[in-house]
Amino acid sequence: MTDSSSAGSPKPQLDESVPHSARVWNYWLGGKDFYPSDRAVGDQVMAMFPDITRLARADRAFLGRAVGFLAGEAGIRQYLDVGTGLPTANNTHQVAQSIAPESRVVYVDNDPLVLVHARALLTSTPEGKCDYLDADLRDTGKILEAAASTLDFSQPVALMLLGIMGQVPDSDHPEEIIRQLLEPMPSGSYLALSDGVNTSETFTEAVRHYNENSANTYHPRSPEQIIGFFDEFIPASLGTGRSLGSRAMGNRVAT
Ligand SMILES: C[S@@+](CC[C@H](N)C(=O)[O-])C[C@H]1O[C@@H](n2cnc3c(N)ncnc32)[C@H](O)[C@@H]1O
Repeated sequence: MTDSSSAGSPKPQLDESVPHSARVWNYWLGGKDFYPSDRAVGDQVMAMFPDITRLARADRAFLGRAVGFLAGEAGIRQYLDVGTGLPTANNTHQVAQSIAPESRVVYVDNDPLVLVHARALLTSTPEGKCDYLDADLRDTGKILEAAASTLDFSQPVALMLLGIMGQVPDSDHPEEIIRQLLEPMPSGSYLALSDGVNTSETFTEAVRHYNENSANTYHPRSPEQIIGFFDEFIPASLGTGRSLGSRAMGNRVAT
């Protein structure tokens, strides 16, 4: 296990009385790693936007499909999964290594409880490798430096950003974060991204309630805004970011 947290970043402490996104997410996914405060705000959001549990499960199903595609058709053997979440079924390394046992995965999260559970994630196949970094998404230099001891950046890598870009406000320049994380990755690398979007007033209202009662804040954006974060990397054959955005479904954009 590697701890690459930076002294300069806000460091969340394990405070059971304040809801945290990893634990509320775990509650919506039907897991058991949450405290009463997480369940309380999770229930309030569910009352306002009942589809939230369906969306959380759809996001995990997307992870499974995306990694299945990356490990299979795309032949990817290295993954940088930022905003890992608490261990649940079908984590990135399990899906990847079920197809290619030699796959190497670096998980990154800044939640202290995820760190506590990280050992459960580190059950790599003998042929592959898993590492876990306790780091903030915004510490891109630290993440890349630490990840380089597990990942070979001369070979393609899949950057996984599932349910995490909405955790940073515009003032933290999410487009710069994505650009910096992709920067050392060679041609043939992939970006898998999913996030909440602001196309439903009910969802946006529920998020506002969550933000007022949680340690983290979430910032749903329009599909066009999210795709604009990595527009420059979209191959011309896939069309423009705007046309990809218009394919976003419901309250999630996934690409
Ligand atoms: C909604 S969960 C998504 C988990 C998983 N990627 C999935 O799709 O099921 C968001 C995760 O991002 C983590 N997270 C939030 N802000 C972060 C930050 N600034 N740096 C690193 N991780 C962060 C949370 O602790 C949580 O585990």
